[in-house]
Amino acid sequence: MVTKTTTDKQIAALVNTAIEASHRAYVPYSHYPVGAALRAKDGTVYGGCNIENSSYSVTVCAERTALFKAVSDGKREFDAIIVVTDNGGSPCGVCRQALFEFAPDLRVVIADMQGQIHHDVPLRELLVYGFGPKSLER
Ligand code: THU
Repeated sequence: MVTKTTTDKQIAALVNTAIEASHRAYVPYSHYPVGAALRAKDGTVYGGCNIENSSYSVTVCAERTALFKAVSDGKREFDAIIVVTDNGGSPCGVCRQALFEFAPDLRVVIADMQGQIHHDVPLRELLVYGFGPKSLER
């Protein structure tokens, strides 16, 4: 059971923010734009898009763009992230791990460019037995 601290109306607005962010994706190689909208607990929303590179592995996903913008802006607590793609694709493992560091209880909403929601799940379910800051405690 997901605790929905973010309302359906807020989620709908976040989906729009993520779609707008996807329009700024730099994707000359995959032609697969991704948009993200990450909501900090204080209500600030950070959009992100994927930014590819001719040296392919340097590519940064939309989710991490949004996360790094937020953290560099001083935010460390998050309620929800919306990820949008053409086909309702799911966040990659690297992004799941990056998000888990700050928000293991994050609400992850996976949607498409039509605004259709495909999944609405806690990050803990996407990264079972995730490795986080607590894992380093002895
Ligand atoms: N991508 C994301 O932006 N987020 C994900 O979670 C999965 C993959 C991007 C990376 C690359 O620019 C394109 O999608 C195809 O892999």
